[in-house]
Amino acid sequence: MHVGVLTGGGDCPGLNAVMRAVVRKAHRVWGDTVFGFHDGWRGVCDDEWTELTIDFMRGTLPRGGTVIGTTRLTPFMLDHGIDRLHETFERNQLDALVVIGGEGTLACADELHRTHGVPVVGVPKTIDNDVGGTEMTFGFDTAVAIATDAIDRLHTTAESHDRIIVVEVMGRHVGHIATWSGLAGGATMTLIPEEPFDIDEVCRALVKRHLGTKYASIVVVAEGALPVPGTLETVEPEVDAYGHKRLGGIAYTVAGEIERRTGIETRVTVLGHVQRGGTPTAHDRVLCTRFGIAAIDAVHDRAYGSMVALQCGRIVRVPLEEVSGSLKYVDPELREAARAFFPPVD
Ligand code: F6P
Repeated sequence: MHVGVLTGGGDCPGLNAVMRAVVRKAHRVWGDTVFGFHDGWRGVCDDEWTELTIDFMRGTLPRGGTVIGTTRLTPFMLDHGIDRLHETFERNQLDALVVIGGEGTLACADELHRTHGVPVVGVPKTIDNDVGGTEMTFGFDTAVAIATDAIDRLHTTAESHDRIIVVEVMGRHVGHIATWSGLAGGATMTLIPEEPFDIDEVCRALVKRHLGTKYASIVVVAEGALPVPGTLETVEPEVDAYGHKRLGGIAYTVAGEIERRTGIETRVTVLGHVQRGGTPTAHDRVLCTRFGIAAIDAVHDRAYGSMVALQCGRIVRVPLEEVSGSLKYVDPELREAARAFFPPVD
């Protein structure tokens, strides 16, 4: 078969590991030719690609980023994008496309499959872990490991100075990274998008914890966390060329308010893209490899319109239609576990 592969949306540790697995099984078992389209859907519409061979992918298992590039462009945004996509399919006699991406890229794949008959198989990528239908997306474990390491380091400096440090992690719609790294790193509290925070309660809890004792605090805040409406003024984020809100900076608002209200010296660390760069963890490498193998097998089963997913430790296929537009939020049980470590408010 002739199989295309693309990586769309924000990059993520493990993208190359997925492609390497697709290529390895495609060549060794199925005898396919694999086309690596450049910069996500743009490469498909412009018919720009590199043939992905075993040799080309050699050495990429531990490499961060994506060797074929990524953008947030979709055929729906490009002039005659759908026609150009079909032309690329015909010219190269493509049989299917493996689409590796997060919510936006997978929603686009779903729509192209349902409304234009494009034969796609999805692979769930994002450090945010917010894609529905799968217990875990690849990249998440790496991001949590990086954030946890940062929190560990911030503990010692915060303790030396008896300060509060507000650490901002990624998580635009959900607080998976904040919750997991907060639990793993022993954070004092975590603020997540699923649960608007009351800055007054946050400050009362911190004051109580610091009263009469020398005790530093680490507050983890997800970039998408928001205050209870009307309780704290926040800065409206800019929107990029794709209509994507450029988040980042809520930690400054939270820290400023904490220091103003409590009088306790407070510092900020915004982890940003460091969570998305570099080598994937061993766990992510294994997950990516399993996802890649399952994706090329799904292509050979003509299971188009599906996404490979992790459920109860097994790799399964779920309809893209069920996944598209549905976000996976932090499990309330896990949130309760995290809350057990927050200082009491009164
Ligand atoms: O979707 C993953 C993510 O890492 C978000 O948490 C973050 O808001 C976004 O990507 C930032 O992406 P970029 O800086 O590439 O626009």
